[in-house]
Amino acid sequence: MVNKITVVGAGNVGATAAQRVAEKELARTVVMVDIAEGIPQGKALDQWQAAPIELYDSRVIGTNDYDATAGSDIVIVTAGIARKPGMSRDDLLNTNAGIVKSVSEQVRQSSPDAIVIIVSNPLDVMCYVAKEVTGFPRERVLGMAGVLDTARYRMFLAEALQVSVEDIQAMVLGGHGDTMVPLVSYTTVSGIPITQLMDRATLDAIVDRTRNGGAEIVKHLKTGSAYYAPSAGAVQMAEAIVHDQKRILPCAAWLDGEYGLKGLFLGVPCKLGRRGLEKVLEVELTRDERAALDKSAEAVRDPMKAVKL
Ligand SMILES: NC(=O)c1ccc[n+]([C@@H]2O[C@H](COP(=O)([O-])OP(=O)(O)OC[C@H]3O[C@@H](n4cnc5c(N)ncnc54)[C@H](O)[C@@H]3O)[C@@H](O)[C@H]2O)c1
Repeated sequence: MVNKITVVGAGNVGATAAQRVAEKELARTVVMVDIAEGIPQGKALDQWQAAPIELYDSRVIGTNDYDATAGSDIVIVTAGIARKPGMSRDDLLNTNAGIVKSVSEQVRQSSPDAIVIIVSNPLDVMCYVAKEVTGFPRERVLGMAGVLDTARYRMFLAEALQVSVEDIQAMVLGGHGDTMVPLVSYTTVSGIPITQLMDRATLDAIVDRTRNGGAEIVKHLKTGSAYYAPSAGAVQMAEAIVHDQKRILPCAAWLDGEYGLKGLFLGVPCKLGRRGLEKVLEVELTRDERAALDKSAEAVRDPMKAVKL
Protein backbone atom coordinates (compact mmCIF):
# COMPACT_ATOMS: atom_id res chain seq x y z
CA MET A 1 0.00 0.00 0.00
CA VAL A 2 1.03 3.63 -0.40
CA ASN A 3 1.08 6.08 2.49
CA LYS A 4 -1.78 8.39 1.52
CA ILE A 5 -4.57 8.69 -1.03
CA THR A 6 -6.76 11.78 -1.00
CA VAL A 7 -10.25 11.94 -2.48
CA VAL A 8 -11.45 15.48 -3.19
CA GLY A 9 -15.23 15.72 -2.97
CA ALA A 10 -17.09 13.63 -0.38
CA GLY A 11 -20.26 13.34 -2.47
CA ASN A 12 -21.59 10.19 -4.08
CA VAL A 13 -18.59 9.34 -6.25
CA GLY A 14 -15.98 10.61 -3.79
CA ALA A 15 -17.28 8.88 -0.68
CA THR A 16 -17.79 5.59 -2.52
CA ALA A 17 -14.27 5.85 -3.97
CA ALA A 18 -12.81 6.47 -0.51
CA GLN A 19 -14.66 3.42 0.80
CA ARG A 20 -13.32 1.25 -2.03
CA VAL A 21 -9.75 2.53 -1.51
CA ALA A 22 -9.97 1.72 2.21
CA GLU A 23 -11.53 -1.71 1.69
CA LYS A 24 -8.78 -2.60 -0.79
CA GLU A 25 -6.15 -1.24 1.64
CA LEU A 26 -4.52 0.74 -1.15
CA ALA A 27 -3.27 3.39 1.30
CA ARG A 28 -2.36 3.57 4.97
CA THR A 29 -4.44 6.77 5.21
CA VAL A 30 -7.40 7.78 3.05
CA VAL A 31 -8.31 11.47 3.28
CA MET A 32 -11.65 12.85 2.10
CA VAL A 33 -11.70 16.62 1.63
CA ASP A 34 -14.78 18.69 0.74
CA ILE A 35 -15.95 22.27 1.20
CA ALA A 36 -19.16 21.08 2.89
CA GLU A 37 -18.57 21.30 6.64
CA GLY A 38 -19.10 18.07 8.55
CA ILE A 39 -19.82 15.86 5.53
CA PRO A 40 -16.30 14.51 4.96
CA GLN A 41 -15.71 14.25 8.72
CA GLY A 42 -18.93 12.30 9.30
CA LYS A 43 -18.59 9.99 6.30
CA ALA A 44 -14.92 9.30 7.06
CA LEU A 45 -15.61 8.40 10.68
CA ASP A 46 -18.46 6.14 9.60
CA GLN A 47 -16.19 4.41 7.05
CA TRP A 48 -13.35 3.97 9.53
CA GLN A 49 -15.80 2.39 11.98
CA ALA A 50 -16.55 -0.26 9.35
CA ALA A 51 -12.86 -1.30 9.44
CA PRO A 52 -13.10 -3.67 12.43
CA ILE A 53 -15.97 -5.48 10.67
CA GLU A 54 -14.64 -5.48 7.12
CA LEU A 55 -11.10 -5.98 8.41
CA TYR A 56 -9.02 -3.31 6.73
CA ASP A 57 -6.22 -1.32 8.24
CA SER A 58 -6.57 1.86 6.21
CA ARG A 59 -7.52 4.88 8.32
CA VAL A 60 -10.17 7.19 6.84
CA ILE A 61 -10.02 10.89 7.68
CA GLY A 62 -12.40 13.69 6.66
CA THR A 63 -11.49 17.35 6.52
CA ASN A 64 -12.27 20.76 5.02
CA ASP A 65 -8.67 21.83 4.61
CA TYR A 66 -5.68 20.46 2.80
CA ASP A 67 -3.24 20.11 5.73
CA ALA A 68 -4.24 16.51 6.31
CA THR A 69 -3.83 15.76 2.59
CA ALA A 70 -0.15 16.85 2.53
CA GLY A 71 2.18 14.50 0.70
CA SER A 72 -0.52 12.38 -0.90
CA ASP A 73 0.72 9.75 -3.34
CA ILE A 74 -2.51 9.83 -5.35
CA VAL A 75 -5.33 12.41 -5.46
CA ILE A 76 -8.72 11.45 -6.93
CA VAL A 77 -10.72 14.56 -7.85
CA THR A 78 -14.52 14.19 -7.79
CA ALA A 79 -15.43 17.74 -6.72
CA GLY A 80 -18.00 19.49 -8.86
CA ILE A 81 -21.65 20.09 -9.51
CA ALA A 82 -24.08 18.50 -11.90
CA ARG A 83 -26.08 20.62 -14.37
CA LYS A 84 -29.14 22.21 -12.79
CA PRO A 85 -32.29 23.40 -14.59
CA GLY A 86 -31.61 26.62 -16.48
CA MET A 87 -27.83 26.08 -16.62
CA SER A 88 -26.14 25.86 -19.97
CA ARG A 89 -23.29 23.42 -20.59
CA ASP A 90 -20.97 26.41 -20.62
CA ASP A 91 -22.23 27.48 -17.18
CA LEU A 92 -21.46 24.00 -15.89
CA LEU A 93 -18.15 24.02 -17.67
CA ASN A 94 -17.01 27.25 -16.08
CA THR A 95 -18.42 26.43 -12.62
CA ASN A 96 -16.64 23.07 -12.51
CA ALA A 97 -13.52 24.55 -14.10
CA GLY A 98 -13.44 27.06 -11.24
CA ILE A 99 -13.80 24.24 -8.70
CA VAL A 100 -11.16 22.03 -10.36
CA LYS A 101 -8.86 25.04 -10.68
CA SER A 102 -9.02 25.82 -6.95
CA VAL A 103 -8.63 22.13 -6.08
CA SER A 104 -5.62 21.86 -8.42
CA GLU A 105 -3.95 24.89 -6.79
CA GLN A 106 -4.29 23.22 -3.40
CA VAL A 107 -3.00 19.88 -4.74
CA ARG A 108 0.03 21.56 -6.31
CA GLN A 109 0.84 23.18 -2.93
CA SER A 110 0.16 20.27 -0.60
CA SER A 111 1.01 17.22 -2.72
CA PRO A 112 3.49 18.30 -5.40
CA ASP A 113 4.50 14.73 -6.22
CA ALA A 114 0.99 13.25 -6.43
CA ILE A 115 -0.53 11.40 -9.34
CA VAL A 116 -3.92 13.00 -10.04
CA ILE A 117 -6.95 11.08 -11.29
CA ILE A 118 -9.74 13.38 -12.45
CA VAL A 119 -13.36 12.25 -12.35
CA SER A 120 -15.19 15.62 -12.39
CA ASN A 121 -17.11 16.46 -15.56
CA PRO A 122 -16.86 17.53 -18.32
CA LEU A 123 -14.05 15.03 -17.90
CA ASP A 124 -11.60 15.71 -20.69
CA VAL A 125 -11.72 19.48 -20.18
CA MET A 126 -11.35 19.16 -16.39
CA CYS A 127 -8.21 17.08 -16.98
CA TYR A 128 -6.85 19.95 -19.07
CA VAL A 129 -7.63 22.44 -16.26
CA ALA A 130 -5.86 20.21 -13.72
CA LYS A 131 -2.80 19.78 -15.92
CA GLU A 132 -2.54 23.51 -16.67
CA VAL A 133 -2.98 24.58 -13.05
CA THR A 134 -0.83 21.95 -11.32
CA GLY A 135 1.85 22.12 -14.00
CA PHE A 136 2.34 18.36 -13.42
CA PRO A 137 3.76 16.32 -16.32
CA ARG A 138 1.33 14.24 -18.34
CA GLU A 139 2.46 11.09 -16.56
CA ARG A 140 0.78 12.41 -13.40
CA VAL A 141 -2.57 13.73 -14.65
CA LEU A 142 -5.09 11.17 -15.88
CA GLY A 143 -8.84 11.11 -16.35
CA MET A 144 -11.30 8.33 -15.55
CA ALA A 145 -14.01 7.74 -18.13
CA GLY A 146 -12.91 4.96 -20.47
CA VAL A 147 -12.76 2.40 -17.66
CA LEU A 148 -16.39 3.21 -16.80
CA ASP A 149 -17.63 3.35 -20.38
CA THR A 150 -15.85 0.04 -21.11
CA ALA A 151 -17.32 -1.56 -17.98
CA ARG A 152 -20.82 -0.57 -19.11
CA TYR A 153 -20.17 -1.96 -22.58
CA ARG A 154 -18.79 -5.24 -21.13
CA MET A 155 -21.74 -5.59 -18.77
CA PHE A 156 -24.27 -5.11 -21.58
CA LEU A 157 -22.44 -7.63 -23.78
CA ALA A 158 -22.20 -10.19 -20.96
CA GLU A 159 -25.91 -9.78 -20.29
CA ALA A 160 -26.84 -10.24 -23.95
CA LEU A 161 -24.58 -13.29 -24.41
CA GLN A 162 -25.27 -14.75 -20.96
CA VAL A 163 -21.56 -15.14 -20.25
CA SER A 164 -19.27 -13.95 -17.46
CA VAL A 165 -18.30 -10.28 -17.55
CA GLU A 166 -14.74 -11.50 -16.93
CA ASP A 167 -14.58 -13.04 -20.39
CA ILE A 168 -15.47 -9.88 -22.30
CA GLN A 169 -12.39 -7.95 -23.46
CA ALA A 170 -13.13 -4.54 -24.87
CA MET A 171 -12.02 -0.94 -25.01
CA VAL A 172 -13.98 2.30 -25.33
CA LEU A 173 -11.89 5.25 -26.48
CA GLY A 174 -12.48 8.94 -27.18
CA GLY A 175 -14.03 11.69 -25.12
CA HIS A 176 -16.44 11.03 -22.27
CA GLY A 177 -19.71 11.91 -23.95
CA ASP A 178 -21.93 11.14 -26.89
CA THR A 179 -18.88 10.87 -29.13
CA MET A 180 -17.17 8.04 -27.24
CA VAL A 181 -15.77 5.29 -29.48
CA PRO A 182 -16.45 1.66 -28.51
CA LEU A 183 -13.91 -0.39 -30.48
CA VAL A 184 -15.93 -3.21 -31.96
CA SER A 185 -12.88 -4.47 -33.85
CA TYR A 186 -11.12 -5.15 -30.50
CA THR A 187 -14.13 -6.62 -28.70
CA THR A 188 -13.71 -10.32 -27.98
CA VAL A 189 -15.17 -13.00 -25.76
CA SER A 190 -12.19 -14.98 -24.51
CA GLY A 191 -10.41 -14.12 -27.74
CA ILE A 192 -13.38 -14.84 -30.05
CA PRO A 193 -14.29 -11.77 -32.13
CA ILE A 194 -17.65 -10.44 -30.95
CA THR A 195 -18.94 -10.33 -34.53
CA GLN A 196 -18.85 -14.18 -34.57
CA LEU A 197 -21.16 -14.36 -31.57
CA MET A 198 -23.60 -11.52 -32.08
CA ASP A 199 -25.49 -10.04 -35.01
CA ARG A 200 -24.71 -6.51 -36.07
CA ALA A 201 -28.07 -5.03 -35.04
CA THR A 202 -27.75 -6.31 -31.44
CA LEU A 203 -24.17 -5.05 -31.29
CA ASP A 204 -25.16 -1.62 -32.63
CA ALA A 205 -27.92 -1.38 -30.03
CA ILE A 206 -25.40 -2.19 -27.26
CA VAL A 207 -22.93 0.38 -28.58
CA ASP A 208 -25.75 2.92 -28.53
CA ARG A 209 -26.81 1.96 -25.00
CA THR A 210 -23.18 2.33 -23.88
CA ARG A 211 -23.02 5.85 -25.33
CA ASN A 212 -26.10 6.74 -23.30
CA GLY A 213 -25.14 4.68 -20.23
CA GLY A 214 -24.84 7.67 -17.91
CA ALA A 215 -28.12 9.24 -19.06
CA GLU A 216 -29.95 5.93 -18.53
CA ILE A 217 -28.97 5.96 -14.86
CA VAL A 218 -29.79 9.68 -14.40
CA LYS A 219 -33.23 8.94 -15.82
CA HIS A 220 -33.81 6.28 -13.16
CA LEU A 221 -32.36 8.22 -10.26
CA LYS A 222 -33.95 11.56 -11.26
CA THR A 223 -31.63 13.40 -8.88
CA GLY A 224 -27.92 12.76 -9.14
CA SER A 225 -25.94 10.50 -11.43
CA ALA A 226 -24.09 7.18 -11.35
CA TYR A 227 -21.49 6.58 -8.68
CA TYR A 228 -20.95 2.88 -7.92
CA ALA A 229 -19.34 2.07 -11.27
CA PRO A 230 -17.64 5.49 -11.64
CA SER A 231 -15.96 5.13 -8.24
CA ALA A 232 -14.95 1.55 -9.12
CA GLY A 233 -13.35 2.89 -12.32
CA ALA A 234 -11.30 5.54 -10.52
CA VAL A 235 -10.17 3.04 -7.89
CA GLN A 236 -9.16 0.48 -10.52
CA MET A 237 -6.82 3.12 -11.95
CA ALA A 238 -5.46 3.92 -8.47
CA GLU A 239 -4.94 0.22 -7.78
CA ALA A 240 -2.96 -0.22 -11.02
CA ILE A 241 -0.71 2.64 -9.90
CA VAL A 242 -0.32 1.56 -6.26
CA HIS A 243 0.54 -2.03 -7.17
CA ASP A 244 2.58 -1.06 -10.25
CA GLN A 245 0.42 -3.49 -12.22
CA LYS A 246 1.27 -2.16 -15.72
CA ARG A 247 -2.39 -2.57 -16.59
CA ILE A 248 -3.63 -1.52 -20.00
CA LEU A 249 -6.72 0.59 -19.33
CA PRO A 250 -8.55 3.18 -21.40
CA CYS A 251 -7.86 6.51 -19.67
CA ALA A 252 -8.03 10.16 -20.62
CA ALA A 253 -4.41 11.09 -21.29
CA TRP A 254 -2.72 14.23 -22.65
CA LEU A 255 -1.89 13.44 -26.25
CA ASP A 256 1.39 14.49 -27.72
CA GLY A 257 1.06 13.35 -31.30
CA GLU A 258 -0.39 9.90 -30.65
CA TYR A 259 -3.22 9.08 -33.05
CA GLY A 260 -2.17 12.22 -34.94
CA LEU A 261 -3.60 14.35 -32.12
CA LYS A 262 -1.78 16.84 -29.94
CA GLY A 263 -2.55 19.19 -27.06
CA LEU A 264 -5.74 17.68 -25.61
CA PHE A 265 -6.95 14.95 -23.28
CA LEU A 266 -8.72 12.04 -24.91
CA GLY A 267 -9.49 8.45 -23.96
CA VAL A 268 -6.78 6.13 -25.29
CA PRO A 269 -5.26 2.80 -24.20
CA CYS A 270 -2.76 3.55 -21.42
CA LYS A 271 -0.22 1.52 -19.47
CA LEU A 272 -0.56 2.41 -15.78
CA GLY A 273 2.14 1.70 -13.23
CA ARG A 274 3.82 3.25 -10.22
CA ARG A 275 4.88 6.30 -12.25
CA GLY A 276 1.31 6.92 -13.40
CA LEU A 277 0.93 7.01 -17.18
CA GLU A 278 3.83 4.86 -18.42
CA LYS A 279 2.84 4.63 -22.08
CA VAL A 280 0.08 5.52 -24.51
CA LEU A 281 -0.51 2.53 -26.78
CA GLU A 282 -1.23 3.30 -30.39
CA VAL A 283 -3.39 0.60 -31.94
CA GLU A 284 -4.65 0.22 -35.49
CA LEU A 285 -8.16 1.53 -36.00
CA THR A 286 -10.65 0.87 -38.75
CA ARG A 287 -11.50 3.80 -41.00
CA ASP A 288 -14.80 4.33 -39.14
CA GLU A 289 -13.17 4.14 -35.69
CA ARG A 290 -10.49 6.59 -36.81
CA ALA A 291 -13.11 9.06 -38.06
CA ALA A 292 -15.09 8.65 -34.83
CA LEU A 293 -11.96 9.37 -32.75
CA ASP A 294 -11.27 12.54 -34.75
CA LYS A 295 -14.88 13.64 -34.25
CA SER A 296 -14.57 12.97 -30.54
CA ALA A 297 -11.38 15.06 -30.39
CA GLU A 298 -13.23 17.97 -32.00
CA ALA A 299 -16.00 17.66 -29.39
CA VAL A 300 -13.35 18.05 -26.68
CA ARG A 301 -11.46 20.93 -28.31
CA ASP A 302 -14.46 23.27 -28.52
CA PRO A 303 -15.21 23.42 -24.75
CA MET A 304 -11.46 23.48 -24.06
CA LYS A 305 -11.26 26.74 -25.96
CA ALA A 306 -14.30 28.10 -24.07
CA VAL A 307 -12.93 27.37 -20.60
CA LYS A 308 -11.65 30.35 -18.62
CA LEU A 309 -8.52 29.59 -16.59
N1 LIG B 1 -15.83 10.75 -15.31
C1 LIG B 1 -16.92 10.04 -15.11
O1 LIG B 1 -17.10 9.00 -15.74
C2 LIG B 1 -17.94 10.48 -14.10
C3 LIG B 1 -18.94 9.60 -13.65
C4 LIG B 1 -19.83 10.03 -12.66
C5 LIG B 1 -19.74 11.33 -12.17
N2 LIG B 1 -18.78 12.18 -12.65
C6 LIG B 1 -18.64 13.55 -12.16
O2 LIG B 1 -18.09 13.50 -10.85
C7 LIG B 1 -18.49 14.69 -10.15
C8 LIG B 1 -19.04 14.31 -8.79
O3 LIG B 1 -20.24 13.58 -8.92
P1 LIG B 1 -21.07 13.15 -7.61
O4 LIG B 1 -22.19 12.32 -8.06
O5 LIG B 1 -20.14 12.64 -6.57
O6 LIG B 1 -21.61 14.60 -7.15
P2 LIG B 1 -22.04 15.04 -5.68
O7 LIG B 1 -22.82 16.27 -5.84
O8 LIG B 1 -22.61 13.87 -4.93
O9 LIG B 1 -20.65 15.40 -4.97
C9 LIG B 1 -19.84 16.48 -5.35
C10 LIG B 1 -19.12 16.97 -4.11
O10 LIG B 1 -18.17 17.97 -4.50
C11 LIG B 1 -18.08 18.89 -3.43
N3 LIG B 1 -17.40 20.11 -3.83
C12 LIG B 1 -17.87 21.16 -4.56
N4 LIG B 1 -16.92 22.10 -4.66
C13 LIG B 1 -15.82 21.62 -4.03
C14 LIG B 1 -14.51 22.13 -3.82
N5 LIG B 1 -14.12 23.32 -4.29
N6 LIG B 1 -13.65 21.38 -3.10
C15 LIG B 1 -14.01 20.17 -2.59
N7 LIG B 1 -15.24 19.65 -2.77
C16 LIG B 1 -16.12 20.36 -3.48
C17 LIG B 1 -19.54 19.07 -3.02
O11 LIG B 1 -19.65 19.66 -1.72
C18 LIG B 1 -20.06 17.63 -3.09
O12 LIG B 1 -19.95 16.98 -1.82
C19 LIG B 1 -19.48 15.43 -11.07
O13 LIG B 1 -18.80 16.43 -11.78
C20 LIG B 1 -19.94 14.32 -12.01
O14 LIG B 1 -20.42 14.83 -13.23
C21 LIG B 1 -17.91 11.77 -13.60
